[in-house]
Amino acid sequence: MEQKKTVLVLFGGVSSEHEISRISAASVLKQMNREKYTILKAGITKTGKWMLTESAPEAIEDGTWESDPANRPLLLSLNAENPGFYAGDEGRQEHHGVDVVFPVLHGRNGEDGTVQGMLQMAGIPYVGSDTAGSAACMDKAMTKALVSQAEAADQAKCCIIHRIGVDPEEAAEGADAFFEGRYPLFVKPARAGSSVGITKVKERGALGQAIRTAFAQDSKILVEEAIAGRELEVAVLGNEDPVVSGVGEIFTAGEFYDYEAKYDDIGSRTSVKPDLPEETELQIRETALRIYRTMECRGLARVDFFLTEGGRIVFNEINTMPGFTKISMYPALWEASGIGYPALIDELIRLAEERETQ
Ligand SMILES: Nc1ncnc2c1ncn2[C@@H]1O[C@H](COP(=O)(O)OP(=O)(O)O)[C@@H](O)[C@H]1O
Ligand SMILES: [Mg+2]
Repeated sequence: MEQKKTVLVLFGGVSSEHEISRISAASVLKQMNREKYTILKAGITKTGKWMLTESAPEAIEDGTWESDPANRPLLLSLNAENPGFYAGDEGRQEHHGVDVVFPVLHGRNGEDGTVQGMLQMAGIPYVGSDTAGSAACMDKAMTKALVSQAEAADQAKCCIIHRIGVDPEEAAEGADAFFEGRYPLFVKPARAGSSVGITKVKERGALGQAIRTAFAQDSKILVEEAIAGRELEVAVLGNEDPVVSGVGEIFTAGEFYDYEAKYDDIGSRTSVKPDLPEETELQIRETALRIYRTMECRGLARVDFFLTEGGRIVFNEINTMPGFTKISMYPALWEASGIGYPALIDELIRLAEERETQ
């Protein structure tokens, strides 16, 4: 039998999606094959403290892991000749070799290239896209520019506003002129996630406040035309030669797919077998692959689209570390395409190591 690999699952993080990361990581931990892997668990608190923990997935999910007395402070070893971590109190740290890190981190300081760069320097293979790919996908303005330049997909018209030296009311005036008074619009932070800081704006009077709300999350924001249509998502898996799942659909209970609809509202549901013309499904899958390649993703990504009544396919966004909760679309799409959750994790770990040796 092959030797067991040591995989460190990283969760939490200094991010508006800290809680979602914990739920995703708990799912991953429950599904990982313990015969194949020695699993290490490391949490990052909201204030940025790293700890090696032996807490159960349930305690990771509900946040009580943080007060586990067995937790030990964790330090990344910047010795690429002996990749791993040190855990323990000062002066009494022990080295833990690690084969692969699975950063189950969403949003800022986790999905945006920061952790990826750190692991790269430490010589530790990790699941998912590298620093540049992660950073470009995290930033909706950067994604739009790259996708547009490559003519990889149709996108909603948008304008980008930087906070520095800009008065929100003046910005609202400018955006209103840019869209020639047409509403609804969506205002969103460039680098957030889980719909945090996003507002659907139906009239001019609400635009200033929406811009302020987005600026509270990020110094760069997007004002975008609203696309009326269905919300479809596809899962991509692989390095240079990726494969793409079938198309899934989100049915939103609320006005749009906001934070509550995503995680709290039982009215929202998803389907991995939506009713779609074959040709449309094919086009969406091809477009997703084109975007994945354009953005130089590795390992995995979920690519999200709108489909209008008239059949227009509009790319919305790409996530390099999509949700991994038990109701999340990414694992569900692979399940429907014949790759079960534990096999999916195996493949992600294999892809992480494959990339490292290239
Ligand atoms: N241009 C748009 N037209 C219509 N709905 C949108 C638009 N932009 C965002 N939304 C709605 O807001 C949700 C969250 O926006 P999204 O860009 O996916 O950000 P996040 O990274 O937070 O998921 C989408 O799932 C969709 O319901
Ligand atoms: Mg989204």
